[in-house]
Amino acid sequence: ESEEHLEERPPVITIMGHVDHGKTSLLDAIRNARVAHGEAGGITQHIGAYTVEQRDKKITFIDTPGHAAFSAMRERGAQATDIVIIVVAADDGVKPQTIEAIKHAKASKAPIIVAVNKMDKEGANPDLVKGQMAEHEVSPIDWGGDVEFVPVSAKTGEGIDDLLDNILLTAEVMELTANPEAAAKAVVVESSVEKGRGPVGTVIVQNGTLSVGDNVVCGKAFGRVRSLINDQGQQIKVLGPSETAVVVGLNEVPAAGDIMIAMESDKEAREYAQKRAEYERQKELSASTKTSLDELTALIAEGKLKSLKVILKTDVHGSLEAIRTSLLALRNDEVKVDIISSGVGGITENDVELANSSENSVLLGFNVRPTGAVKALAKQRGVDIRTYTIIYQLLDDITGMLTGMMA
Ligand code: GTP
Ligand code: MG
Ligand code: NA
Repeated sequence: ESEEHLEERPPVITIMGHVDHGKTSLLDAIRNARVAHGEAGGITQHIGAYTVEQRDKKITFIDTPGHAAFSAMRERGAQATDIVIIVVAADDGVKPQTIEAIKHAKASKAPIIVAVNKMDKEGANPDLVKGQMAEHEVSPIDWGGDVEFVPVSAKTGEGIDDLLDNILLTAEVMELTANPEAAAKAVVVESSVEKGRGPVGTVIVQNGTLSVGDNVVCGKAFGRVRSLINDQGQQIKVLGPSETAVVVGLNEVPAAGDIMIAMESDKEAREYAQKRAEYERQKELSASTKTSLDELTALIAEGKLKSLKVILKTDVHGSLEAIRTSLLALRNDEVKVDIISSGVGGITENDVELANSSENSVLLGFNVRPTGAVKALAKQRGVDIRTYTIIYQLLDDITGMLTGMMA
């Protein structure tokens, strides 16, 4: 593409930090919304993306969860970003996921701004935060380093303007550009199946302009963009560079991290997606043989055969990934966790039948529920379905089951 087509684009900002340090509240304060208030357990469990307009300038924000289980989501957030904001509560200081956020931010090479939040609180100690961050090589400008520390309060609104000034200034220096006339290329940051909409993906456009009617491929998925819905729930016609929206019109759920590309025709999109699907299928086949061989080896070495088989269904791809990773981390010498089936979507009769035919299995739902018919079948088969809305409750229960089985 020739250079004259490059235009200034808005910055993409990822907000990271330890659980409950105020990331979502800070975004709410910027957007005048109340997202944090409505979250189950008061914790963020998926990636949120918003484009806001400040002083005639657009900024796209990615909100990430702070809970320990969502490491992969944070990593993905950092990869799609221009600037990382690390939120540290002034009354709590640097904590494990703050350190993890620093790691992801440094790996992404994006500039860091530290928002020292909860300045309204009695125990607020911004100098302590600076000292702790400096120990992890995030050094404040006023201490001779290169990172801006902005004291803020999501509660009172103090410092929010300073934070926005800092973001816009940093973005200006970076001279971020894209070609709005190019064929669209966008990254999926979250995906799910929505009632009445089917498979959807939340995307951030990296180059070009995505329009309603475009033929797209997105990992194994393909389709024609039926609608674009912004975070206010409004239908929009076009999505320019750095902007975010939910894309409706795909044939299946894309994976978070997949790249969406606009193609010339629907035939081209379909063929491309089919090739990808076949490639993924082959990869999965070889991967699953490898895992079960490893498992078998371990079992033979121990001279016993004890495993907990898990069938897992979740609402969005991000939570599926987070729970899968956490469950697999619960493996130990005595008992292994075996995720025999997992996917995005409601609990189906197939899931119940699978649980019924698999010894020592549990059927878990996260933010999804069985329908009445599925529940009836489960009762008939004697299959216990456990559903959760808070990730650590799910993990606690499984840990308990493993401990019980080990006793
Ligand atoms: P996760 O997404 O679960 O990691 O949490 P988060 O970092 O998004 O924090 P969240 O916005 O959910 O806020 C956690 C708690 O801190 C809530 O009870 C908020 O009301 C409170 N809180 C957030 N910001 C402030 C602040 O500036 N001052 C005070 N006093 N409380 C705050
Ligand atoms: Mg949050
Ligand atoms: Na929270």
